[in-house]
This record gives sequence, structure tokens and C-alpha cells, in this order.
Amino acid sequence: MVVAQEPNATDAGVAVLKAGGNAVDAAVAVAFALSVTHPFAGNIGGGGFLLARFADGRTAFIDFRETAPAGASHDMYLDASGKPTRDSLVGWRAAGVPGTVRGLELAHKKFGRKPWAELVQPAVDFAANGFELSYSTAKSICASTKLLNQFPESKRIFLKAGGCPETGEKLIQPELAETLRRIAGEGAKDFYEGETARRLAVAMAANGGLITLEDLKSYRAVERQPLEGKYKNYGIITAPPPSSGGVAMLEMMALLEGTGYEKAGAGSASTTHYLAEAMRRAYADRAEFLGDPDFVHVPVKGLLNPRYIAGLRSTIDVKRATPSDVIGHGDATVFETNETTHFNVIDAEGNAVSLTYTLNGGYGNGVTVPGLGFLLNNEMDDFAAKPGTPNLFGLIQGEANAIMPHKRPLSSMTPTIVTRDGKLFMVVGAPGGGRIINGVMQVILNVLDFGMDVQQAVDQPRLHHQWKPDKISLERGFSPDTVALLRGMGHEVDPEGGGVASVEALLVDGGWIQGAQNGRSTGKAAGY
Ligand code: DON
Repeated sequence: MVVAQEPNATDAGVAVLKAGGNAVDAAVAVAFALSVTHPFAGNIGGGGFLLARFADGRTAFIDFRETAPAGASHDMYLDASGKPTRDSLVGWRAAGVPGTVRGLELAHKKFGRKPWAELVQPAVDFAANGFELSYSTAKSICASTKLLNQFPESKRIFLKAGGCPETGEKLIQPELAETLRRIAGEGAKDFYEGETARRLAVAMAANGGLITLEDLKSYRAVERQPLEGKYKNYGIITAPPPSSGGVAMLEMMALLEGTGYEKAGAGSASTTHYLAEAMRRAYADRAEFLGDPDFVHVPVKGLLNPRYIAGLRSTIDVKRATPSDVIGHGDATVFETNETTHFNVIDAEGNAVSLTYTLNGGYGNGVTVPGLGFLLNNEMDDFAAKPGTPNLFGLIQGEANAIMPHKRPLSSMTPTIVTRDGKLFMVVGAPGGGRIINGVMQVILNVLDFGMDVQQAVDQPRLHHQWKPDKISLERGFSPDTVALLRGMGHEVDPEGGGVASVEALLVDGGWIQGAQNGRSTGKAAGY
């Protein structure tokens, strides 16, 4: 079964499974397909994380996060007065060195079974022959008109005469088809050393961007140990640094375990209060301690140490909100979006893949590389452009996540796999910026603690707290009584707090797989 945020890509993955491909093969096909059919976030110009668990219990984590170009520097996004500029968000200078193609190739080389070219082919076909724009894709392109209009190639491809495309219109991307054909034939070599690399480097230089041919050549996807923890009698396999997601999620789960927080029921004021207090504390730690482990020491063991957790838990007042200022300092404004994308695959043998990848903002930095047809990321904004001030997601981050050449920006992407009695149980993940961690955790807890089926668990309204700003953001669907009680405990509550991540999940139950697509956005779960 496959669940992805765009139906054509889901179908491409199911076709690979049907033809005898394993979960990694299907994931490669889905990822390439999304780079064509879900240009909003699907990509070859961005990066992400792939988490796999194989039927024999082995696990793997492939980090294909972007890196800062060699020419990047600590203060590169500050103006003369020391204020952050928008250069980390829009235009050529916002791009980190893309990791997707190398990451997918590494995953395929190590774990794939089907020929590479066969897995890229569906994407080539979607790009060359076109596909019909869904309502939501047409709408999302339309919503990004201002960004895309600034870059001639993006305007030409996505906006035609400068206006919005219509639902049902065909989007044909011949340049992207050519790039994908080269990747199908030559593998990642084309993207990092071959024609694609050369043309990208020339365009970068011509437009004031930083990525050089040398940056591309030296980019490596990295295999890391997945982060593994336990919650009750479940195993949690999740993303290690440079994601903050796994660490923060395990820290929150450890804070919650054994407290009986769930007794009042999902969506109740006391359960919501407890969740928010756990979130506040974990996000404060995230701001301080998390960064690229190849550059800074991330105290993962310390943060998850039972004594550290017990100490932190003892600061939670079951009846009152703890002001975030007591926990740490800073200020932020939330900027909520769902611009990454996530999908899950389980094959017939029980191998599973959970993959989140992104351009960061929707349509990335807005730049489509002339003649190559793909959009570039603005992942450099995930660094702390100015340690202590908020980024696109209102997240505050410290020196641990400051910019350095070749460093990976801190991420919140949290691809996760849950086991029960040593067997595959859930495959979960989401887009949603800094909200991803909380979204993924709540869907897992909805199953583990509240006994929901996977669709209920995904549909259930979610909350978000990220330490700063000091408030609980609620999705629609919490009762006014709950809101009133939370306010009575001293919480600032935003009942119209926007979506909390687009979580997608698969759950294995007695030989059957349940799939749940996030109803708040588009997508499709399908099996065979
Ligand atoms: O890696 C991260 O945490 C972000 N670049 C993810 C961006 C994202 O989820 C955008 N959608 N909201």
C-alpha cells in the first residue's frame, strides 16, 4: 500500500509494487513522480529523509538533506544593520545544495531491486505527456503567483501567460522530462557532475547564487542510525539529527509516559494541557540544542535520559500553564504552511518506507532552473540566519543551527515507524514545518493511547505549541468548553490556529493494512 499527497504518484508507486518492486523501489518511483505532479513540494531540487524498516527487522535512515554551499557564511542573510533579509527565502541565494537525487540513488543501490531507469520512467512520462492539474494543485500554483512571477522560467512553465492555471488543464514539462531522462540513464551522476550539474552551476553563477559545480560534486547523502526509542510496549523508530523531529518527539513521549495524561480522553482540556506542556518544553530544548551532528554536539542521550526527563516532568503543573518565559527566552510569530510532502509505503513482504522531502516553502525559492525544468529549494531558511530570531515557521534556533559551509540546516521532518511486539505496526510522517513533530506524535498517540483506528487518528483535531510564541494553536473541532478550561489554566489559546501538519499513516493490523490520507489536504491511499 502507498499513501502520498498526489494520486498520480500514489498510483505510480502501487504499479511498482504490483510489478514485484519492494517498498524502496516504490518509494523511489513515488518521489520522482511527485517531483513532476506535486511541484509544490515534490522535488529533485530539494532534500529530505528516508526511513526504512525491512521485514527482517533491519532499519535504515538515509539523510539527503541539503547542505550549505561552500560560499555560505554565518551572517549571509543579514543586512548592514544586522537584520535578517528575505534572501534566505526567495531567489537563487536561498538554495542549499540539493540532496534528493543522491539520496534516492543511495537508497536504491543499497536496498532496491528493480532497475533504476524503470523507477524514474513514470516521472518522465508525467513530465513529457503532461497530467491534469487537480483542483488543489491549480489552486496552490495560483496562490504562489507572486513568488513564481518573479522568475521568468517559473512564470513560463507554471503560469503560462502570467495568470493562474485552471483545474483540469494539462501541465506538460518538457525540460523536466529531459532532465529526468538523463537521470534515468546516467543516475545521480548527471545531476551532480554531468550536464544537469554544469547547467545548474552556470545558471547559479549568472544569477548571484552560491552553488558551484564543486558543491554539487562533493554533495553526499549520508546513511545514519535511525533514532530508536520505546513508548509503553511500542518501539519507535524515527529521524535522528539533523532532524530535530525524532529527538523532540521521543522527549515528549517520555514526558507523557506514565503520567496518565490520556485518562481524561482525546481532546479534553486536561489531556490537551498536558500535551501542550510537553510540547513547550521539548521545543525549548530544540531551540537550544539541535543542529547538524556533523558540526555540533547534539546531546541526544542527555535529552532522552530518564533522569533529565523526570526532572523536566516535575516542572509540569497539572493544573496551570507554565509561562514559556520561565522555560527560556525569545519571541516568535508563527507562519503556518504545509509545503513539504510525505509518503509511506508497505510492500507485500512487510518492508516499509516513510519518506519526507521538501523544497521548504511551497515552490521553494521560486526559481525554476532555465532549461532544466525543476524548482530549487529555500532550505537555507531552516538555518538560524540570526540565532535567537524566528525563521519562516516562527521557530527560534540557536548557534547550534547557525550557517556554516557544508552544514545541514536543522529540520523538523519526522518520518517514523512504530513497531508492536517487534513487528511493523505504523508508518507515519507529515509536512507542516515546525508543526510536523507535534502532528506526527499526536496521530501515533491517538492510536496507542486512545484506541483510534488510523483514519480516526489522522482526522482527530490536533494542537500545536512550540514554546514561543507562548500559545496553544488548535485546529478546528475542539469544543468551546475545552478552550474555556484551557484559558482558565492560564493558556493563551488560538481556536483558529490553522492546520497542524498533514499527517499520513499506514497501520498493519492482523495481516491487513489500513491507510489514512490527511483529509485536510489532498492525496490518496491505495493498495492492491
Ligand atoms: O525541514 C524542515 O523542517 C522544513 N524545511 C520543512 C518544511 C515544511 O514542512 C514546509 N511545510 N510546512
